[in-house]
Amino acid sequence: MRILSGVQPSGKLHIGNYFGAIRQFVELQHKGHGLYFIADLHALTTIREAERLRELNHDVALNFLSLGLDPEKATLFRQSDIPEVTELSWILSTVTPMGLLERAHSFKDKTARGISADHGLFAYPVLMAADILVYHSDVVPVGKDQKQHLEITRDIAVKFNQTYCKHFDPATGEGGVLKLPNPHILEDTAVVPGIDGQKMSKSYNNTIELFAPEKEVKKRIMSIKTDSTPLEDPKNPDTCNVFALLKLFARPDELEEIRQLYVKGGVGYGDFKKKLLEFFLATFGEARKRYEELSANEDYVQDVLRKGALKAREIATEVMDQVRRAIGLK
Ligand code: ADP
Ligand code: TRP
Repeated sequence: MRILSGVQPSGKLHIGNYFGAIRQFVELQHKGHGLYFIADLHALTTIREAERLRELNHDVALNFLSLGLDPEKATLFRQSDIPEVTELSWILSTVTPMGLLERAHSFKDKTARGISADHGLFAYPVLMAADILVYHSDVVPVGKDQKQHLEITRDIAVKFNQTYCKHFDPATGEGGVLKLPNPHILEDTAVVPGIDGQKMSKSYNNTIELFAPEKEVKKRIMSIKTDSTPLEDPKNPDTCNVFALLKLFARPDELEEIRQLYVKGGVGYGDFKKKLLEFFLATFGEARKRYEELSANEDYVQDVLRKGALKAREIATEVMDQVRRAIGLK
């Protein structure tokens, strides 16, 4: 089984990225061949400073390795090191209906927020489809927000196969050159809320970063938005942002205990936030230590990426050979 996913180096990674995506990457590396990449070409739609992109590219690799991705088991690489991806992206764009892209959230949401759209943003899902299809991926673990992109990927693969493969059966996916991938979405951590209650996202300035200095993490946790229920009154855990985040960390019995404290009253939001900080440090303490160690070893990280690109390219070259034959470029 081939498992593939990518994360954009468009900012420092946060607990939403961990619980929604990276935790699954780490768990899945034992179940098949994991291919994980840093989507630096996608990040060009938002990051327009060369030095910052270089820095974030390196930092995301460092984050993956610190959080338990084992380069002996999984393949870690940079999207831009695989030129076959951009080649396939163009080929796919020639069979992608405009309407499919006009309906994509990535494009619709940004234009709705007044961010002017360029062609890169519009074509974003096609590049993502190429990322996935060029490795004949079976499973793609992502957060819920990426669900539509996976549907678009399948639609594009079907379109390509219908156009170029005589024996393709869309009902079974058999007989095509491009393999139809399946999303892997964890429903309970599908959307991690940010400190303002909206979806946590690098682009909303509402994140709790995984590897920020402890003082900074504390500041962010202490500023999580809550209502103004007085300390002594009962509180509703199910509408509380702090509780929603505690849920990600606590065991069921611990969570039940915390729930009782909410319902009983007498404990303030400040105390629940302190508890959240404790959970955060206990969960990510090891990873944060490894991050410090690996930060001093830039060559090691670059070496992992170089070797990863070689392995990924081997697969991509083979799939592209089939694609070129199917369309008549070879
Ligand atoms: P961001 O929105 O912070 O820019 P990305 O779009 O780069 O994050 O997402 C990287 C991965 O992390 C994706 O698989 C995405 O689904 C997941 N992810 C991002 N934010 C969240 C969140 N708040 N809750 C759950 N998963 C998330
Ligand atoms: N669009 C994804 C995100 O913002 C990142 C990404 C790019 C990706 N290519 C991918 C994820 C391929 C999974 C598979 O999170």
